[in-house]
Amino acid sequence: MQPVECIQSTAVSVAQATPATGSASAGRTPGFARVKEILDGAIATWRKDQQREPHLEVHGPRFRWNTRDELVNGVVELGDMRFPLIDETLRGNGRAEETFLIQYLRRDGDMFVRMPSGGPYLPDDQIDEIARWIDAGCPELAPGQQSSLRAPDVSRALAFAQRYGRPANGAALQLAAPRV
Ligand code: HEM
Repeated sequence: MQPVECIQSTAVSVAQATPATGSASAGRTPGFARVKEILDGAIATWRKDQQREPHLEVHGPRFRWNTRDELVNGVVELGDMRFPLIDETLRGNGRAEETFLIQYLRRDGDMFVRMPSGGPYLPDDQIDEIARWIDAGCPELAPGQQSSLRAPDVSRALAFAQRYGRPANGAALQLAAPRV
């Protein structure tokens, strides 16, 4: 079997021979939630179109994206071949088009067909969004986006509770407090 390094360098030359659309550099950088939405959407569309559950287990146990870390560390394992979805050397440095994730979402590769296998495929603008996310270093949150668990909000709510008594969601506030 071909070692991972050989597969990756072959893939790089494919990317260089076929330049990306160019639009990946334009537009907003998404956060992980949007990337997850796009990938989940690809699976949902495939399921609807093919009218069956996809056997995603063919990709091995490390093919998943419930969290940002799962996706970033995701690997497709086929026999003794390993395809890191987003190789760490290709993150945050303008090399997203060289990642296996982007390459297999955009076109047939040397070894396998374009993903999701058999289509429907993701539209270019959605693949561009994922590429921008990788080029931005795979951030959990989009630039300027704030977590829904903002410490100042919790502090303000606790101050309110101390001043006016226990609010309706006091139990939730007590759980949240130690994390501030
Ligand atoms: C490194 C990237 C990937 C590799 C090497 C890879 C490889 C494969 C292989 C070998 C198969 C089985 C053979 C076939 O149906 O052609 C497969 C099936 C499939 N893959 Fe991928 N894949 C990759 C990424 C993805 C991604 C990112 C998605 C979805 C967002 C995806 C969705 C699917 C689906 C839906 C199937 C069909 C499963 C079925 O027939 O039940 N793959 N993939």
